[in-house]
Amino acid sequence: MTASARTQRVTAGHSGARTPAGVQVQPRKMEFAFSQLQGRFFYDNNRLLSAFFAALSSTFPPGEAEFIASVRNYRGRITDPLLKEQIRGFIGQEGHHSHQHKKANQVLRELGMDAVRLEHHLQRDIDRFLQRRHATPRFRLAMTVGMEHMTAIMAEFVLHNPEVLAPLEASVRDLLYWHAVEEIEHKAVAFDVYMDQEGDQKYLRKVLRLVTVLFTVRIACYMVALMWWSRKLPRWSDVKGLWRFMFGAKGMISHIRGPYRDYFKPGFHPWDHDNRALIDKWQNELRRDANSAA
Ligand SMILES: [Fe+2]
Ligand SMILES: [Fe+2]
Repeated sequence: MTASARTQRVTAGHSGARTPAGVQVQPRKMEFAFSQLQGRFFYDNNRLLSAFFAALSSTFPPGEAEFIASVRNYRGRITDPLLKEQIRGFIGQEGHHSHQHKKANQVLRELGMDAVRLEHHLQRDIDRFLQRRHATPRFRLAMTVGMEHMTAIMAEFVLHNPEVLAPLEASVRDLLYWHAVEEIEHKAVAFDVYMDQEGDQKYLRKVLRLVTVLFTVRIACYMVALMWWSRKLPRWSDVKGLWRFMFGAKGMISHIRGPYRDYFKPGFHPWDHDNRALIDKWQNELRRDANSAA
């Protein structure tokens, strides 16, 4: 199919699964030795970066439960057997991520980084949101599709530059590599469900703008809360480390800016970023058998 033909088809909505053949969306059962976490500031003793990863981890259990629920709303209407199969895999993968992040959050709380309190805070906010009239199935699914785009491009950043996680304690690093790889595997599932059933890509773009702001503000507020509760002010070296991690030449924001914007191109599909090689890279280089039980 030519690019323009595909664009036309996609903007009008497409049906069925478009994840490349060979990419399996299947959960792996993993265990991580979080009990070995020693310090509260588990990212190279950097207070801000440790708070960033703890804030991120706190959002996964309630966030991913909502992703699952928003896709489940449409499950009965999907007829493509492959997409149905991928929905099952998506639910399984996100369920496992939630479960492992919950365990990590418990340990972080014991170390003085109360990610569990933040988890409950987000859960209350989601519950309140779901009471509102505008929390329609379409809006909820579009939010999930937007967040899946964000997680997929962050996952790509991490697996492309695995050394950025080197200063993390090993169990958290292994958790994030595994989570990243599965985010890549299932990155198109919610998108394909949306395009199959709703098909309005303009609406997706509008909602991505909104979720980007909501997500960024929430993470920033959660970092402030974690700092406040731990009664430690960030030092200048912490600020510099965070800045480098985000905006340095190999920084996260510097890396994801381009792929983020691709979402706004007419006819965009998550697999326009063909990063299947990163799945193999994890399997062959980054995965530590000692910590896996797949
Ligand atoms: Fe996930
Ligand atoms: Fe996901």
